[in-house]
Amino acid sequence: MRILITGGAGFIGSHVVRLFLKKYPKYYIYNLDALTYAGNLENLHDVENVLNYTFIKGDITNESFVLKLFDKYQFDAVIHLAAESHVDRSILDPLSFVKTNVLGTINLLNAFKNCHNGNYDRKLFYHISTDEVYGSLGLTGLFKETTAYQPNSPYSASKASSDHFVRAYGETYGLPYLISNCSNNYGSNQFPEKLIPLFINNILQKKQLPVYGDGNYTRDWLYVEDHAIAIDLIFHKGKAKETYNIGGLNEWKNIDLVKLLCDKMDKRLNLDFGSSRNLITYVKDRPGHDLRYAIDASKIKEELGWSPLVTFHEGLEKTIDWYLNNKDWVDNVTSGKYQEYYKKQYNN
Ligand code: NAD
Ligand code: TYD
Repeated sequence: MRILITGGAGFIGSHVVRLFLKKYPKYYIYNLDALTYAGNLENLHDVENVLNYTFIKGDITNESFVLKLFDKYQFDAVIHLAAESHVDRSILDPLSFVKTNVLGTINLLNAFKNCHNGNYDRKLFYHISTDEVYGSLGLTGLFKETTAYQPNSPYSASKASSDHFVRAYGETYGLPYLISNCSNNYGSNQFPEKLIPLFINNILQKKQLPVYGDGNYTRDWLYVEDHAIAIDLIFHKGKAKETYNIGGLNEWKNIDLVKLLCDKMDKRLNLDFGSSRNLITYVKDRPGHDLRYAIDASKIKEELGWSPLVTFHEGLEKTIDWYLNNKDWVDNVTSGKYQEYYKKQYNN
């Protein structure tokens, strides 16, 4: 089986690529990634020479390139993770989210459709999405697969749009698809612009920890390796044309999470300014900030037997340790040095 994984050099994608390479030595895994600021081949350093793995640098918004790629490799399946993924960036530049998340997804759908030309036996287009498409919960309730879409940020609107196109290609052209919508991930290799790695990095640099608004926003956190396991399970056992919600059953108010993170960092570091809690600074709120996300994961649990394996305390400890042990990674991705590594490695 030839599987195209898009966005495999990013945070979640790199964990999915690694899991598939280790678990399925008979599959051919092709990782297509444009290596934007969020994509980093160092994330896959340990598997880059595995025989059944091919990295392809390319942009999913380039229609003719994507068509030619499918012509050449005739992928049986796609696991589509490539995306612009950060809400704050989407507020500054919505159009780049429309280009990658909407147009890029449609290019992949068209190429998949043209390549198989109606013969979809043992073929699959698996689209990875987010719980943010459902909008915001109040203080109670959970997102179910049947919850109406009500995206509030340009990021979530672009992901919602891509979900709709995937479903529409299933209904209109018979394309076999799966969609999963997951809650907030955390773990190693996450670009230090998202809450947890940003705050770890800021504590190390003695920089302020900018908590948006009153900090009473709630997210449901899932360890990234548990997400990768769920993706593997859905890919192999999910029912075609279905959607699965994936979540950590692990809700935290931002301010409580930040305090816990500070306490765990304090235990590891000998800070000359007392507790890192002193760095917490309340700043202007994010516009359109969703109050609460929380997933009802009963469908994936009951149908596929999945539940998270890693507790939040364990996962957070592992994540902190990874960032403390990989300060060079953080320096590279934040300083542009990574471009030098890429040129050296691939000679372009
Ligand atoms: P990320 O930003 O870390 O990685 C995205 C990857 O896509 C990068 O490697 C980047 O180089 C690549 N990419 C971006 N634009 C591209 C383009 N035009 N062509 C080819 N490659 C391109 O994102 P992530 O956090 O790993 O998220 C992966 C997917 O999972 C996304 O679709 C996201 O919406 C979804 N998701 C993320 C979370 C989360 O908490 N991070 C939760 C649920 C769903
Ligand atoms: P983030 O990691 O950007 O994920 P998302 O917006 O997709 O949920 O943010 C998680 C929560 O943390 C969200 O409520 C916004 C908040 N936040 C801050 O308070 N300060 C920050 O600097 C960042 C990046 C996020």
